[in-house]
Amino acid sequence: MNLFQYFRNAKIRQALPHGLLWSALAVTALAQADAPAVLDQARTLFQPLPDTMATADNPTPPDRVALGRRLFFDKRLSLDGTVSCETCHLPGLHGMDGQPKSIGVQHRPNARNAPTVLNAALQFKAHWDGGRDSVEDQATRALIGPASFGNPDYPAVIAKLKSLGYEDDFRKAFPGEADSIKPENWGKAIGSYERTLVTPAPFDDFLKGNANSLPSEAQRGLKTFMAVGCSNCHNGMALGGNAFQKFGIFGDYWTATGQSAGDEGRFALTQDPNDRYRFKVPGLRNVAKTPPYFHDGSIDDLGQAVRLMGKLQLGLDLNPDQVQSLVAFLNSLTGAIPKPFAAP
Ligand code: HEC
Ligand code: HEC
Repeated sequence: MNLFQYFRNAKIRQALPHGLLWSALAVTALAQADAPAVLDQARTLFQPLPDTMATADNPTPPDRVALGRRLFFDKRLSLDGTVSCETCHLPGLHGMDGQPKSIGVQHRPNARNAPTVLNAALQFKAHWDGGRDSVEDQATRALIGPASFGNPDYPAVIAKLKSLGYEDDFRKAFPGEADSIKPENWGKAIGSYERTLVTPAPFDDFLKGNANSLPSEAQRGLKTFMAVGCSNCHNGMALGGNAFQKFGIFGDYWTATGQSAGDEGRFALTQDPNDRYRFKVPGLRNVAKTPPYFHDGSIDDLGQAVRLMGKLQLGLDLNPDQVQSLVAFLNSLTGAIPKPFAAP
């Protein structure tokens, strides 16, 4: 293990006192790297997307996926008939809503920015603070979320589903279950649909060995992404979505993003002081298509988001060339909108 690897592996939470050391190590790493080495290193940190995100708990049989798709786009299940999942997760906007913070039923504001539903099922938890265990849990609880669907309680929703003629579809989607219309199955049906929303991108072809699938600027960006330590937090299939980290290791993030005060993140959920300002590291798949950025939607420009990540998470002043190549790399994570991601 060389010096660089030692520091890269050291826990980022035990953050280094200043950015200088990081810069020095990064320069060394860049000088050492060559094209096949980049691929080799990338393969230790990232994996291509799977064909489906189905699990043993929630497989993706066609009837269940079809039901989930109908439910995803059905506004009638919300309190006033104006909101569906699509309201804040639009196919045309790569699965989010383009707003800093979403607006739910009866114009109720949400506290945070809507992440994309594309590839979301890869993440170890859902929501910025990890407050939802899975996409299934997320969908189930959205039904009675005051700022999303706004329904008073689950019995009201079940009655609505029955009155809208969904009973047959639920029976087909959950064969053998006596009482198949229930909140968990609403969550499972939508979750099953979400587990099909995978968006393979040029970066996946690159990881599979096709070096030509990434333009040279994106390859340089990938090299930088690994060398400066972005990949300490953003790694795996989703390039994130597998850990919580403090936002603002090297300074108050809200000052840097021009907000007056900071959302305390996971702390509000756990009351553990170590969780203050900790958020789920978001996956970066399709990130070039999902501005505005961060949990508060405070930053519109991807280059600016990247610069702030360098500053706040790594104590680094990235130069314009590094930022530009990092953005080129992030662009290689954009995939096509899956065909089934459209109203049935
Ligand atoms: C009013 C807008 C709104 C509606 C309606 C809505 N969402 Fe969301 N969604 C959000 C916001 C905002 C978040 C982030 C919440 C947070 O982290 O505090 C989110 C988070 C998520 C996440 C977690 C993504 C991640 O990366 O953590 C998933 C998955 C998701 N929504 C799916 C759905 C589904 C499925 C429905 C319908 C059942 C739905 N949403 C309805 C706004 C909405
Ligand atoms: C110490 C962990 C860590 C490191 C290192 C790190 N990030 Fe992040 N990144 C995060 C967290 C946590 C967030 C979510 C911040 C928030 O609450 O909005 C994030 C958010 C982002 C976002 C915004 C995503 C979105 O959908 O809003 C981008 C883009 C990003 N990071 C890119 C990078 C790049 C490029 C680097 C390297 C220069 C990097 N990150 C380094 C933890 C990290």
